[in-house]
Amino acid sequence: MRFLLINGPNLNLLGSREPSIYGSITLESIESNLKKKAQDEGVQLDCFQSNFEGALVERIQQAVGEVDAILINAGAYTHTSIALRDALLGVGIPYVELHLSNTFGREQFRHKSFISDRAVGVVSGFGVMSYQLAFQGLLAHLNETQ
Ligand code: DQA
Repeated sequence: MRFLLINGPNLNLLGSREPSIYGSITLESIESNLKKKAQDEGVQLDCFQSNFEGALVERIQQAVGEVDAILINAGAYTHTSIALRDALLGVGIPYVELHLSNTFGREQFRHKSFISDRAVGVVSGFGVMSYQLAFQGLLAHLNETQ
């Protein structure tokens, strides 16, 4: 099986960005830890981060025929991007939405997500563990449905 992990804007700053909200682990460490977990489960994990909405849309489009599922932390685009929603629905690849922080415990504008209603599931608020939980949930879902 092959999964794609997508991280959106400002997540490249993890480690130094608002550590009281997002913790002090870097994106590089998150990716390498998740790659190890994936390898143990026999899953190949590709990782992609961009600060640009169009680049994220293009990466999602490229994933057709390449990956079985997507894990996505779309960052602030979660709350604003119809283009990302359209890309995810357009390719029809199952995805899990994830967030380090509990977006429902934060500002009102973070309560809205353009992608959660069509996600396999949503994981929010577990810090770096959100990535591991999203991976586990997605894998279990695929094993059940495929
Ligand atoms: C985030 C939550 C978003 O509201 C925010 O814009 C981010 C990170 C999270 O992982 O908690 O950039 O997606």
